[in-house]
Amino acid sequence: MTAANPYLVDELIAAGLPRREARWLIEEFMPGGDHDAIAALRAATQRRLDGEPLQYVIGHWPFRSLDLDLDHRVLIPRPETEELVEVAIDELATSRVVAPMILDLGCGSGAIGLSILFELRTRGVGATLVALDRSSDALDVARRNALKHHLHAVSFVASTWFDDLDDSLRGRFDLVVANPPYVSADEMASADAVLDYEPRAALVANDASDVPGFADLAVIISAAPQWLTPEGVLVVEHGYLQRDAVLCAAARAGFESFQDRDDLAGHPRVLVARR
Ligand SMILES: C[S@@+](CC[C@H](N)C(=O)[O-])C[C@H]1O[C@@H](n2cnc3c(N)ncnc32)[C@H](O)[C@@H]1O
Repeated sequence: MTAANPYLVDELIAAGLPRREARWLIEEFMPGGDHDAIAALRAATQRRLDGEPLQYVIGHWPFRSLDLDLDHRVLIPRPETEELVEVAIDELATSRVVAPMILDLGCGSGAIGLSILFELRTRGVGATLVALDRSSDALDVARRNALKHHLHAVSFVASTWFDDLDDSLRGRFDLVVANPPYVSADEMASADAVLDYEPRAALVANDASDVPGFADLAVIISAAPQWLTPEGVLVVEHGYLQRDAVLCAAARAGFESFQDRDDLAGHPRVLVARR
């Protein structure tokens, strides 16, 4: 921080920002105290004061070991999804597959799949990732994040869930991961306004289900077995009221063993299902 910064911190606090955020924005927009950047800093401060999430204002955010580029085209990855990554990596370790093939359904920024690939690489495991999303905007962000972290064993596929995935990949994935939209339109209507900044299609599930917000999860759980190897595993995040529905869907899909895990806050959150 430069000598001018205490005054800037005070200016941003007086404008309404908490001290910690004021410091973050200054470090982000005026590294080294470059005063030519003052207009950018003030614009960023205004965006934040208007209610835009800090992650979009700054344009990147940590997720496990990665610093992910983020913008309004993708969901801001959540802490509970970091837990899903932990579960998925543990499941792969149990499988002892040497060079796993991984499918990330609804990859968004690439948070899940790229983190798994990165963390496996640090353990000396060379995995291959297919990162899939219906949104070409999201795929652009994920592609940029893969390049940023030198993760090259990734192919990016535009598809509505499994619909446009190459048939030759059936039965080939050791791990399928997904954090699909699982909020219902009704829940969204009463949700925190900050969610309005995120892409609606990343949050709100297709409504064709008796269980609110469950339609996309239902498609993924029922189709996943065809795309998994015989020992493959599906790890999928869901809403805290959807435990019974995911367990029923896993049974109907013919998974041999399955269980549902709580997140660190004690809410039902992650289905783990083995073929
Ligand atoms: C909840 S976001 C998850 C993003 C990222 N995986 C994460 O955890 O931060 C859901 C993602 O699924 C994608 N998506 C929604 N419906 C889809 C569909 N029918 N087929 C493929 N992708 C879909 C959205 O574009 C969005 O990127």
